[in-house]
Amino acid sequence: MSTEGCSTTRVRELRESEIRERAGELAGVLFDAVSGGVRTAFAAPRWPLDAVRGVLDLADAVARGTIVLVAEHDGEIVGSVQLRPARSEVAPRRMELSTLVVHHRARRRGVASALTAAAEEAARERGCRILSVDTAADGEGRHVYDRLGFARVRFVPALALAQVGVDTISYHKVL
Ligand SMILES: CC(C)(COP(=O)(O)OP(=O)(O)OC[C@H]1O[C@@H](n2cnc3c(N)ncnc32)[C@H](O)[C@@H]1OP(=O)(O)O)[C@@H](O)C(=O)NCCC(=O)NCCS
Repeated sequence: MSTEGCSTTRVRELRESEIRERAGELAGVLFDAVSGGVRTAFAAPRWPLDAVRGVLDLADAVARGTIVLVAEHDGEIVGSVQLRPARSEVAPRRMELSTLVVHHRARRRGVASALTAAAEEAARERGCRILSVDTAADGEGRHVYDRLGFARVRFVPALALAQVGVDTISYHKVL
């Protein structure tokens, strides 16, 4: 699957083997995107090596059904997002979007929008009817989801979250 984002940016799914081969590059984008105290609803890596470890764990997760989409600009990864079946036995037609990141040099050119649109398409292809995503209540992601037609369904105070510790907004989009 591939989607044209902006003129020379292409969005496509990365296979498990490609994630391992390009782990350093993907980790570099992830680490860049969350550097400088950005607020995210996912556990952002604190060091480059943590980002590489996280990407290798992601390759394992792909073998278990997680989908990784990347945006490439002239062949170089500039952003990515993850999609996985909801962790709920009662909602088999819901999928979860997570870890939407774009390298700081590629921002405000529609890359996150193209990644999210491609994730919606990938989710639809798998029979998904509801896409959900959690994002930091004061983070940059909420601008993207508000603009792309996701509905705010829940506010989760940081106190409720063991791992990350930021207030979070949950969004849903009916596909
Ligand atoms: C959030 C993030 C993924 C956005 O990536 P992006 O490629 O710049 O987003 P887009 O260009 O597709 O933006 C789409 C729209 O969202 C809004 N938007 C995006 N970033 C914004 C910001 N920092 N402030 C206000 N609005 C913003 C704008 O309306 C934008 O459209 P416009 O540029 O035509 O006005 C990127 O800033 C990032 O990686 N941030 C760090 C990680 C993060 O917070 N991820 C969120 C998921 S938890």
